[in-house]
Amino acid sequence: MLGLSNVKTLAEGKVVQVEWAEGVCARFHAVWLRDNSPDPETLSPANGQRLVRIQDVPEDVWVQAATVLDDARLEITFMPERKVVTFDAGWLLENRYDRPSNGKAATGWTNDEIVRWGKELQEDLPVASFRTASQNPDELRRWLADIRRYGVAKMIDMPLESGAICKVVELFGYVRETNYGRFFEVRTEVNPVNLAYTGLGLQVHTDNPYRDPVPTLQLLSCLDNSVEGGDSLVVDSFRAVELLREEAPEAFKALTSLPANYTFAGTGDVMLRSKRPMIELGPDGELLAVRFNNRSLGPLTDIPFEQMDAFYDGYRKLAEIMERPELAVTFKLRPGELFIVDNTRVTHGRVGYEGSGSRWLQGAYADLDGLRSTLAVLERQASAVEEEVA
Ligand code: FE2
Repeated sequence: MLGLSNVKTLAEGKVVQVEWAEGVCARFHAVWLRDNSPDPETLSPANGQRLVRIQDVPEDVWVQAATVLDDARLEITFMPERKVVTFDAGWLLENRYDRPSNGKAATGWTNDEIVRWGKELQEDLPVASFRTASQNPDELRRWLADIRRYGVAKMIDMPLESGAICKVVELFGYVRETNYGRFFEVRTEVNPVNLAYTGLGLQVHTDNPYRDPVPTLQLLSCLDNSVEGGDSLVVDSFRAVELLREEAPEAFKALTSLPANYTFAGTGDVMLRSKRPMIELGPDGELLAVRFNNRSLGPLTDIPFEQMDAFYDGYRKLAEIMERPELAVTFKLRPGELFIVDNTRVTHGRVGYEGSGSRWLQGAYADLDGLRSTLAVLERQASAVEEEVA
């Protein structure tokens, strides 16, 4: 960790500038520092949660004095409260926001933890053994990190029993139960209520865009697959969106700025609706989510008349990119295997299959926040062990 080298106040105490070794420098607003003061009246020592409201921070807060105590700590005196607080220099370094890159990334950016991919992932699709991952935290950590990075992974060596898919979810989080149940069957039926339950091919899609919030993870496990074809297909929609932005900026603009409607009322006892953009960006242009599902796009009722053509042009263009062979990774799930996708990002589909043989899959939903939390805890434990060894 870099040591502190200098600290000074700017703008009549409204800003504090902190310098660390090797020329790293960042400014902090007085209000930001006061809101994050690590004293027991501001942040709970037990859980780190904030104990004050923003109105409890004086509107005219300013810093009277900022002093380097030693290499790792600095002391700040906030006025008009006359409150003296000691900050950890490492914490400030880690949480600084005065960075040249902030607010300047191209629209549709993703953070460094995400790697966009095309068919080159075919040979390197992440995979873990259920037996190993359930006993070895390092193996589980690697698998979860791969899901965070690529948005897709396989698991093998699962118990060949109905509902085993839930045991996989329990390795990292919680099953997201829906009107389809805790888990659901995906196999050919006569009179299907949903096209997923037939032998037809399925265009790649994200699941359940008609829910709000959408389930952010989907899992599909295989109990039997002896049909010809029926291969699974996955496409990184974040890669497709990147191509769309490069090749057709107007299409990208239409799909990020116009609201789409998604609906599902297939079984009579549900009527699910959501209204979201097909490509969702954060306020700083970060690419957050894609909702892409030809079966579930409802009548578009919230797009201005003048912009409907632009929406459909963009939708068609995105769909064409999604079907490019150079973006697709395909594989056949064998009994005892499963794949998991980040359902805000990686689309999945199926090559059609014929009647001979049988294909029995089970699906379940879960959420990314639980997965990321488990991964962060495993990473913290692993780095603590590494430090001990060092
Ligand atoms: Fe699906």
